[in-house]
Amino acid sequence: MILFSFPAYENIARQLQTVATIQAGRFTVSRYANQELHANIEWAVSSEHCLILGTIAPPDECLLSVLLLAQTLKKEGVHKITAVLPYLAYSRQDKEKLGESLGTAWVGALLKSSRIDDVVTVDVHSERDKQLFPIPLTSLSTDNLFADTLRNHGLLDATIVAPDNGAIGRCEAVKRAAGIAVGETPYFEKKRTEKGIIHHGPVGAVGEKVLIIDDMIDTGGTLVSACKKLKAIGVADIYILVTHGLFTGSSWQQLWSLGVRRIFCTDTVPLPSGMNAANISVVSAIPLIKEHLSKMDKDARQRAASNNP
Ligand code: R5P
Repeated sequence: MILFSFPAYENIARQLQTVATIQAGRFTVSRYANQELHANIEWAVSSEHCLILGTIAPPDECLLSVLLLAQTLKKEGVHKITAVLPYLAYSRQDKEKLGESLGTAWVGALLKSSRIDDVVTVDVHSERDKQLFPIPLTSLSTDNLFADTLRNHGLLDATIVAPDNGAIGRCEAVKRAAGIAVGETPYFEKKRTEKGIIHHGPVGAVGEKVLIIDDMIDTGGTLVSACKKLKAIGVADIYILVTHGLFTGSSWQQLWSLGVRRIFCTDTVPLPSGMNAANISVVSAIPLIKEHLSKMDKDARQRAASNNP
């Protein structure tokens, strides 16, 4: 497989290249003077299986660059293109609402029309995303990774709390992986209003030490609102475990004054440069991606061998 990695993902790319059958391909996506994007592949790719590693998250140039690179690779005769997008942007636009965009289906269609065959991501936002995608979408689970994080950081005794209904399944999967009795998971009822997020709850009993698990922290609005409620009922030690650390804006920094001791996130999204990350621990999801790609390659080789005995 030939790996075409965008610069922000070089760290992941270096580690993926330790898989013997993955080699690095060279390319550039630059702009002409008139600002049009232009892709240039500096590597022979005909008949190969190519991996594109990057993101389709804003700035919008990232999405366009992935699409243009894929289209160019296909034009050069590649056999298959897998987009490795550790964080799948637009995945929260997965609900049918009158007059609103269904962004997940839209980006799925764009990826497909640019000749991407399949997508590999980590902890996709919802099962609905997979149904809305017109091409296969593989979501690698962090359940075991997070269970190890709980063990390694003395968090097995914390009450695991879901910040909204959608996160209950995620919390319970981590509990199962960590060998914690699943029982009833305390959760919050969350509503997004024009004035911001409103939480009711927690529904269910919580102890003095709480661990909130969610798929992502974006602006932090969800977690700030949940932590305010927890603080109000006397919870003093709060830990947060999320897959994708977007850390948009600065509101999320209120978490430190609400009893949050540490935020754990993975490296699916590079941390914003210059961020003070003293109380943020990064748990690497790269081994999951590496294992999946190795298996994918091995299966393809076995299929090829059995077709050409
Ligand atoms: C919502 O369904 C998601 O799982 C996250 O809870 C949410 O999108 C995080 O966004 P923010 O940090 O801006 O509240």
